[in-house]
Amino acid sequence: MKEILALIEKKKQDIAQTQLIQFMQDKSIDPRQRLAWTPAFAPFAMMFKDFNRIVLYKEPADSKIQEMMNQHSREDAQHWSWFLKDMQLMGYDSPINYTDALKFLWGEETIKVRQMAYNLFGICTLEEDVLIKLAVAESVEAIGNVGLFEASQVAKELTEITKQHYPYFGPSHIVKETGHIQADMDSVENFIENIQLTEAQKEKAFTLIEKVFADFADSMNEMFTFAHKHAYDRPFTTMSSIDKSVAQI
Ligand SMILES: [Fe+2]
Repeated sequence: MKEILALIEKKKQDIAQTQLIQFMQDKSIDPRQRLAWTPAFAPFAMMFKDFNRIVLYKEPADSKIQEMMNQHSREDAQHWSWFLKDMQLMGYDSPINYTDALKFLWGEETIKVRQMAYNLFGICTLEEDVLIKLAVAESVEAIGNVGLFEASQVAKELTEITKQHYPYFGPSHIVKETGHIQADMDSVENFIENIQLTEAQKEKAFTLIEKVFADFADSMNEMFTFAHKHAYDRPFTTMSSIDKSVAQI
């Protein structure tokens, strides 16, 4: 898997250059606005529970790697509740019609985020080879590591203002996630690196890694656009409609 991890590492550097990451680093912007994309991340954060439970988890495990995947997915399938807590703490629990919530979650502004989620299911649901699923899971973890690290820096600033701890976007989440799948052993990275793949497995893994990273980059761009269109305290109203309603007053 050495070449696989090397490609993931290289792609991870590209993700670090995306506009959303740079936006979160811009300290001239209010930290609340730098996290204004987070409601649009909901379709992924919530479906990730099912991806872990339904697709990555397999009982009984038929290999050491599947055992590791089970440990990992059992843990990661729980983190959606942290996302809900953050949304509540960030003030997004204000009443909204059920049908408006559905329109928001399945609307045009979050289509890339959903596409990324659908494609992960598409790639892995019928995949029998755990090594291919491992390459995909490692890609997701690497991207999560970049995004969550940056978000945790902003969340720290937010904590100074609100005195609240944010379990999903705050630093405690990134501490739990190393950038690799989480399993009970000394060096997961070392173990994974030494797994041997056939040429066919490598080729397939390379293609899928490119796809996963491209999907995440697209959805990060979409969330960057979202943060530009929506004031952090009005996620369900676009800036242009706010401008219009202000002009009418
Ligand atoms: Fe997580």
